[in-house]
Amino acid sequence: MKNRLSRIIKPKDGRTVMLAVDHGYFMGPTTGLEQLDKMVMPLIPHADTLMLTRGALRNYIPPETDIPIVLRVSGGTSILNDDLLHEGITVSMEDAVRLNVSGVAFSIMVGAKFERDTLLAFTEIVDEAETLGIPVIAVTAVGKDMKRDAKYMALASRIAVELGAHIVKTYYVEGFEKVVESCPVPVVIAGGKKTEEKIALETAYNAIQAGAVGVDMGRNIFQAKDPIAMIHAVNTIVHGNHTPEEAYQEMTRVKRDKYSRR
Ligand code: 5RP
Repeated sequence: MKNRLSRIIKPKDGRTVMLAVDHGYFMGPTTGLEQLDKMVMPLIPHADTLMLTRGALRNYIPPETDIPIVLRVSGGTSILNDDLLHEGITVSMEDAVRLNVSGVAFSIMVGAKFERDTLLAFTEIVDEAETLGIPVIAVTAVGKDMKRDAKYMALASRIAVELGAHIVKTYYVEGFEKVVESCPVPVVIAGGKKTEEKIALETAYNAIQAGAVGVDMGRNIFQAKDPIAMIHAVNTIVHGNHTPEEAYQEMTRVKRDKYSRR
């Protein structure tokens, strides 16, 4: 378990840049990931961990690729349905082991009418993962009608931990210190919908300042104008303690260097 955790969260500084490209499991061919390998392969040298589904892993990522995998093991709903995120188990832990993953991720929906289903399925995954020494990341997803505030995120994150999560993935909100304070396992943030690069960098910075160990970011990287420059900038915040301004300058420098080499 510890060995796998240290593949996800780097022991040199206790931080991680996870690249999330699992969106297809409920969003289909998400903008930027239509040809997932073309987008993701050049980003891998800048990421510590890759989070994706088994279908994406099997079809797009060559087995020789040197990147720890966090496998999404929940799903079963799509953006076409109102019960979005009423997820169940989609991968057996046997297959997760066969795929040699460093961790698995499961979405829980605290506060939704079907919260019990997602929480109990989550604990089934935790039970099996414990016997195999595989860390489980609880993704505290937020339903359309739920309030995204520190009180809710702290509640959902703590429930995830009490039920056995080894890492919690949640969203950055004002007062994030409160979420981290009452969550005794490492916390990473999702990026959420694509926003301006400067704003995404500020969010990553604020989360780290509040005690998050890193990001598990998707759309704000692969839908950025220059995804390589963007993941590099995020990396300088997470591992280099850069301010958002410094990271933005770094992003501009990488872009400029690329153009000047053409
Ligand atoms: C949904 C998820 C996503 O599939 C994804 O990993 C989120 O990444 P981002 O919001 O940064 O695009 O975890 O709950």
